[in-house]
Amino acid sequence: MKTVVLLGPPGSGKGTLALRLAGRLGLEHLSTGDLLRDEVARATVLGRRAKEYMDRGELVPDELILDMVAERLSDDRSVLLDGFPRTLAQAKGLEEHVSVDKALYLELGQDEVVRRLSARRVCKECGANYNLLTQPPAEEGRCDRCGGELYQRGDDKPEVIAKRYEVYVRDSSPLVEYYREQGVLESLDGSGSPDGVYQQALSALGHA
Ligand code: AP5
Repeated sequence: MKTVVLLGPPGSGKGTLALRLAGRLGLEHLSTGDLLRDEVARATVLGRRAKEYMDRGELVPDELILDMVAERLSDDRSVLLDGFPRTLAQAKGLEEHVSVDKALYLELGQDEVVRRLSARRVCKECGANYNLLTQPPAEEGRCDRCGGELYQRGDDKPEVIAKRYEVYVRDSSPLVEYYREQGVLESLDGSGSPDGVYQQALSALGHA
């Protein structure tokens, strides 16, 4: 398995699943959201441009994303793409570098998206993901893994979550049909427990 794409609305569990799946299958985890947040934190030219869009819950322009990703793709690497592609133009750009073997689609309704994202907390140090409702840390405000401080992402505010969901439906959801037509789509029930979703994903990839 060389190139696996994770699709799904914001908060559907792509990042949570990607961490476990990449480790188990020996895939390199490439999250465009994480790459962009790193650029923002370092205040690079790309980071400063991307921040304007991310703060509003809009997509960063395709050409910036494709340039950022292109240098990390090649035929001899096995990757798990998390949050990319997000538009048909990005999907076509990806195909200039690699072909997609499987697209895992995490299905989750809008109410659950809002519930999960409002309760998400992330470690400032190691990036570990928590959820005050479903996966709380042992000590309030502290990461179980490294003791780092937990924070709420700026784009996890209610008005930005609503915008991100709207943008997902408009720009990203057509990719589900796109990959179904290519015969590589596997739909997963994203409303299950993290373990349950992980088991579904392994089975969809033939590793149950
Ligand atoms: P990005 O960081 O990719 O955000 P996203 O796609 O909106 O996804 P999230 O990270 O919010 O959620 P997730 O699906 O990974 O869920 P998670 O596992 O964290 O992108 C951010 C921004 O960057 C975009 O808005 C855009 O501006 C820009 N961007 C990024 N990529 C781009 C691209 N390709 N093109 C253009 N712009 C781009 O889980 C969420 C919460 O739920 C956590 O608290 C977690 O603990 C919990 N949880 C996870 N799984 C479960 C479960 N099964 N049951 C219960 N709780 C669960």
